Amino acid sequence: MSRVAVLRRPEKRREYDGKFLKSWLKNPLRMGAVAPSGPVLARRMASYVDPAGTGPVIELGPGTGAITAALVAHGVDPKRLVLVEYSMDFCRLLRERFPTATIVHGDAYALNRTLTGRLAEPADALVSGLPLMTRPEPIRLKLLNEALGLMKPGAPFVQFTYSVTSPVPIKGSGLIVTPSERIWRNIPPARVWVYQRP
Ligand SMILES: C[S@@+](CC[C@H](N)C(=O)[O-])C[C@H]1O[C@@H](n2cnc3c(N)ncnc32)[C@H](O)[C@@H]1O
Repeated sequence: MSRVAVLRRPEKRREYDGKFLKSWLKNPLRMGAVAPSGPVLARRMASYVDPAGTGPVIELGPGTGAITAALVAHGVDPKRLVLVEYSMDFCRLLRERFPTATIVHGDAYALNRTLTGRLAEPADALVSGLPLMTRPEPIRLKLLNEALGLMKPGAPFVQFTYSVTSPVPIKGSGLIVTPSERIWRNIPPARVWVYQRP
């Protein structure tokens, strides 16, 4: 059975939703959402990644793999994926779902340390499902700067947020910043922000 078919199996979706909710009950601030991203948002996140590339694609906070599955369905080779997740339970699930991806159990906010020795070359893209707005602004900025330092020039840092404004301060950053329209077909509605070094 293909990965896309597995994604559509309702009992699997219910299982992933159950694990997600359980994790939220344990640590709402770290989860930042009660349910995984919906398919429209996940597809939009994946659409910013070039499937024809060959370099690493980093995902921060993949959770149960909603966006990861969309990346694979978009044509990104799972071998390119480097998934950084804090929850050991989610790491186990991600290993089952994406056996050829690199799963890193660690803290995405200490990205240089967490990814030491994990990237063979600078990344082609980074997608993040981290609930950034639960962290203070300097920590969000540090994450963005560290991440861009691990990526090729011009490579997209793709972040979704339920907030109405950019989840990282952009004034004077010198970055190219591209917000999407509001994605209403997600609960709650979200927006995708893309940050690139010129
Ligand atoms: C809002 S959920 C997003 C899950 C998934 N990307 C999605 O869109 O359905 C946030 C995820 O970030 C993870 N997370 C939170 N803090 C983290 C950290 N410091 N390092 C790595 N992952 C973290 C949580 O465990 C959770 O899986």
